[in-house]
Amino acid sequence: MESVKALRNGKSFDYNIVLIGFMGTGKSTIAECLSNCFDMKKVEMDQEIVNREGMSIADIFSVHGEEYFRDAETNLLKEMQSEKNVVISCGGGTPLRDVNVQEMKKNGKVVLLTAKPETIYERVKDDHDRPLLENNKSAKFIEDMLLKRQDKYLAAADIIVETDGKSKLEICKDIVSALTALEK
Ligand code: S3P
Repeated sequence: MESVKALRNGKSFDYNIVLIGFMGTGKSTIAECLSNCFDMKKVEMDQEIVNREGMSIADIFSVHGEEYFRDAETNLLKEMQSEKNVVISCGGGTPLRDVNVQEMKKNGKVVLLTAKPETIYERVKDDHDRPLLENNKSAKFIEDMLLKRQDKYLAAADIIVETDGKSKLEICKDIVSALTALEK
């Protein structure tokens, strides 16, 4: 952790760090790590929506439908633009709406985390709170869905960090170095 902080001489960020990427690319884990390193507030969008709705993501999808969930994401992102120095961990589908990307960029730098379909499959296979993958869990399905989303992810990103085979500390260091380079 100290080694991550040292990359910026302990200086934090005067903008939000917005983590995007497909399900299972490590957004939540890395958000936790960055928020600990730099003593930043963390907002886990999925968790915040679950808390507000009082039901799981799977239940929100089955009771209200996907569009309702997507609207909740947009509203939450808009709300968060009054804050800075926050690590925001988005849901995997958040950057698919252009309006969401516009909101992210108002006060934040957008970090895209990537992973190979096989890596993602291994990370998500035992989890049951991802309605879009439930009953569809295979590296092939993930690859196809990733390909459909790829252009949106790339267009939203200020920086891109690969996560395959890296420790969370290595990923955090890569992010911090790339963000610091952007500031110059
Ligand atoms: C989704 C990703 C999920 C969650 C919802 C939809 C998506 O978040 O928001 O199940 O469309 O990719 P994670 O990326 O945190 O799993």
